[in-house]
Amino acid sequence: DPSFEAALKNAVRTIPDYPKPGIMFRDITTLLGDAGAFRRAVDALVHPYVGGKVDKIAGIEARGFILGGAVAHQLSAGFVPIRKKGKLPHRTVSVAYALEYGTDEIEMHADALVAGEKVVLVDDLVATGGTAEAAVKLLRGLGAEIVAACFIIDLPELGGAERLRAMDVEVRTLISYEGH
Ligand code: PRP
Ligand code: MG
Repeated sequence: DPSFEAALKNAVRTIPDYPKPGIMFRDITTLLGDAGAFRRAVDALVHPYVGGKVDKIAGIEARGFILGGAVAHQLSAGFVPIRKKGKLPHRTVSVAYALEYGTDEIEMHADALVAGEKVVLVDDLVATGGTAEAAVKLLRGLGAEIVAACFIIDLPELGGAERLRAMDVEVRTLISYEGH
């Protein structure tokens, strides 16, 4: 629905040259602060799973927590935080992933889900897909069945959605920006 997409895009703020020259930063804080846009975005993320069986929503720190928590609540599903390294107190599993310079690592509690549970991964945006790919590896490593990976924003030129589809992950995005 083009008017739905236009409304969501209108609620996202674009900051040129942040955090570095040449980067167009897609800022969802304006969408989050707009009650109608926030509601519409969460409803659209949730919609395919209403009445179906999703056990857990996994959200990626930090922006994926905001959306993932809302999606989990609306589906009466559990929520699993996937965190940047060193934040979780109990036994964890972790996966490292490449950044433009260096590497980062995300982790989750080893007992956050049981094998066979149906999990939807949620984040605000997929760019290179490196973060989401690491999250998929974490979840599958614990035996999760990944129903889909869902994002508000796709930056298709960076190839993240394709990278996830190549891992047999269903990818859903609400809006996309050509020319990141
Ligand atoms: C951003 C965004 C995604 C990730 C996408 O998070 O929220 O999680 O980058 O990039 P990728 O597809 O190239 O991996 P960031 O790591 O900047 O941190 P934040 O969510 O804590 O702000
Ligand atoms: Mg993030």
